[in-house]
Amino acid sequence: MTTFSIDWTNADFNDLNCQNYQAKARTFAGRLADSIADGELPFVNLPYMDLLLRQLDDMKEYLSNFEHMLLLGIGGSALGARALQKAFFPQQDRPGHKGPWLWVNDNVDPAALQGYFDTLPPEKTVVVVISKSGGTIETASQYILAKEWLRRALGEDWKDNILAVTDAENGELRSEVEELGMQSLPVPDNLGGRYSVLSAVGLVPAVFLGLDYRRIALGAHDAAKELCAAKLTEKSLNDHPAWKLAVWNRALMESGYTELIFFSYIPMWATFGNWFAQLWAESLGKEGKGSMPLPSVGVTDQHSVNQMYLDGPRNKACLFLTCTGLDKGMAFPDTLPDKFAFLKGRQFGELLQAEALGTRMALTKTGVPLVALDAPTAGLYDAGKLIMLLELTTLLTGWLLDINPLDQPAVELGKRLANARLEAEGYAEEKADLKAFLEGERTIQEI
Ligand code: PA5
Repeated sequence: MTTFSIDWTNADFNDLNCQNYQAKARTFAGRLADSIADGELPFVNLPYMDLLLRQLDDMKEYLSNFEHMLLLGIGGSALGARALQKAFFPQQDRPGHKGPWLWVNDNVDPAALQGYFDTLPPEKTVVVVISKSGGTIETASQYILAKEWLRRALGEDWKDNILAVTDAENGELRSEVEELGMQSLPVPDNLGGRYSVLSAVGLVPAVFLGLDYRRIALGAHDAAKELCAAKLTEKSLNDHPAWKLAVWNRALMESGYTELIFFSYIPMWATFGNWFAQLWAESLGKEGKGSMPLPSVGVTDQHSVNQMYLDGPRNKACLFLTCTGLDKGMAFPDTLPDKFAFLKGRQFGELLQAEALGTRMALTKTGVPLVALDAPTAGLYDAGKLIMLLELTTLLTGWLLDINPLDQPAVELGKRLANARLEAEGYAEEKADLKAFLEGERTIQEI
């Protein structure tokens, strides 16, 4: 098997009202073609990729000067890079590793940042600050502190150890790059954080770790190419698995399936679950619509949340990910306790595959609508395909929900209130709200 296979047998299409959504294929084929032509969906047709690949080639030499990369970013500016490291550079997390090391700092955690500054060698560390908008306070505040750390250690040369990935023209970070002449790479227009792993956002860390970034880009390209035709037909859209997945998910939501399990039985790809959760939740959780993504890892989560999936509320569907070509690893020895004698002659990975099958069947037997995705390999090309498939599915599901899957308006309120709390200029309404919240009567218990 050399291609991704998708098993729809247990999707329960017959129990769902898919027709109304399927009927929109013609309209959405036109909308997709127009949006791509207008440059609104660069994550689909990747128009920036050829230039970026050359820029990444050129960046190799510069990055080879460093042993550590400290990535400052949050949300879509961090999750993809972490998933790539966990999946394709797992040696970093094992004993005896001699570098390079990628550290993804995506929280406002004073202890963690201090820990990095106390232990990383500044002269051997490149700080990569990633922010599409250039104004995200969590990232900006880390950058300000990292700059001071480098300045104190390296004096005038501090700028040589910073690389910014941000909008080509706008935002505070871009102004800083222009003013100080720091190294930078652009995030293309209309490429929002959670859709940006296949830009400099995810690929600069990939270059640093020595990953074959061309393979991942090719996988993504191949998964989308049928949808990038100038005259995209209704049939091409209908045939594409991203559209089928979108119709399936939209119909599931209509039938009360409010949760979507992303069950990965490719253990090293576990962190893609967190990347997908952000993509799905931030794109689709709007106007009371959407479904809650539940990233899960086989077999580990069989011994934690799986009981809930199997016998809790019947509101869950599942995307089930396996890899037929996964290395099965070492063989069991001849001498085994009686209870496990059946393992004789088998390989460790056969247990993973058997448990995957068992869990998949158990889920379907208990009525969880399930689509099984099987990757031929757990390599970069297939990861690129999966990333593109999930991004396209998210976009199209958003369109079927009649919401904008590319924005995230609701998360702005908490940010505005935090700014108001820190006495930032403006925010009069938020400051008044905060005062009322803090001075209002509260119900508090102490133990
Ligand atoms: O997916 C998104 O758009 C967000 O999660 C952003 O990635 C996150 O808010 C960080 O934004 P920025 O890259 O502008 O700092």
